[in-house]
Amino acid sequence: MTEQKRSRVLMEVRDLQMHFPVNHGLLSRKHSVLKAVDGVSFSLLAGETFGLVGESGCGKTTVGRTLVRLYKPTAGEILFDGTDIAPLAEREVLPYRRRMQMIFQDPYASLNPRMTVSSIIGEPMRLQGFPEAEIRERVRELISQVGLKSDHLSRYPHEFSGGQRQRIGIARALATRPEFIVCDEPISALDVSIQAQVINMLEELQEKLGITYLFISHDLSMVSHISHRVGVMYLGHLVEMADMRELYTHNLHPYTQALMSAVPIADPDVAAASQRIVLQGDVPAPIDPPPGCPFRSRCRYCTGACAETMPEMREVSPGHFLACHVKG
Ligand SMILES: Nc1ncnc2c1ncn2[C@@H]1O[C@H](COP(=O)(O)OP(=O)(O)OP(=O)(O)O)[C@@H](O)[C@H]1O
Ligand code: SF4
Ligand SMILES: [Mg+2]
Repeated sequence: MTEQKRSRVLMEVRDLQMHFPVNHGLLSRKHSVLKAVDGVSFSLLAGETFGLVGESGCGKTTVGRTLVRLYKPTAGEILFDGTDIAPLAEREVLPYRRRMQMIFQDPYASLNPRMTVSSIIGEPMRLQGFPEAEIRERVRELISQVGLKSDHLSRYPHEFSGGQRQRIGIARALATRPEFIVCDEPISALDVSIQAQVINMLEELQEKLGITYLFISHDLSMVSHISHRVGVMYLGHLVEMADMRELYTHNLHPYTQALMSAVPIADPDVAAASQRIVLQGDVPAPIDPPPGCPFRSRCRYCTGACAETMPEMREVSPGHFLACHVKG
């Protein structure tokens, strides 16, 4: 899809929060909350791929699951084609489920081993109450669309390789002709040799059907291959967001710079001149986090202000957003 066509906002996420209560055991009176997502705002343009990147545990999957309303958010708005779906009850969400789907990381765990491929692919349509004849016809169309054969339909997931299973998962996600698909690390469990095939297929589907993707990965080089824009997450917050090219050339947040320094560079001269930034320690747990910048315990530019107030996202150049007191 051309740049010009990618201008309609399909989804606008405002100050999204997803908190989970923490259980300290039966005898404890302590109540804590785990702030998996804590005030995330961004928009998705129709037909684009928005990459969401960050270390394990930063909240990427939780954002994805909340956007397609597998979770009901603690607070915030999710405007999908103009309607706020965040506060809707389960029964009210159903019509929107048809328009939003998810592809999961683990093609081994995400397909029911007791269901045939045909039932798996048809399931989202069945939940929406489509007539059986229409489901059968659509399932046959989908299996060939993802490069498998119609005699695969009567088989069970264990008869397939990881790559084939992910194709089945993609066929299932496409069944109700969604406008938006969350791809949650869709290739990280696959052999390197078939990762490119799955990525190419996702790109071709987008080109043909105009689907919008939220593409989740902990690997920035992976995200850079497929995304038009990228958001960098840390500890439940978005810290930087820009067009992929802008993020590559003008990244500003110390966390983005650390992620970027780990991306392999093809040009040996540029590679020799660039320095790998190694972050010390792990991402802290997002339980009862102290005030201030979430990245400050690992940031080499940290100043007094960083411990006091949370840096707000601000637009440092057109379309480039940054949350940092010091940089930009
Ligand atoms: N259903 C849940 N109940 C309680 N805590 C949860 C739940 N889901 C996620 N968390 C916690 O929320 C935080 C964010 O988890 P999430 O799975 O969204 O991260 P992620 O960025 O997708 O990580 P990964 O790269 O490992 O998949 C983690 O601390 C995780 O333990
Ligand atoms: S606000 Fe401070 S601690 Fe946070 S990234 Fe910027 S310099 Fe580092
Ligand atoms: Mg995840």
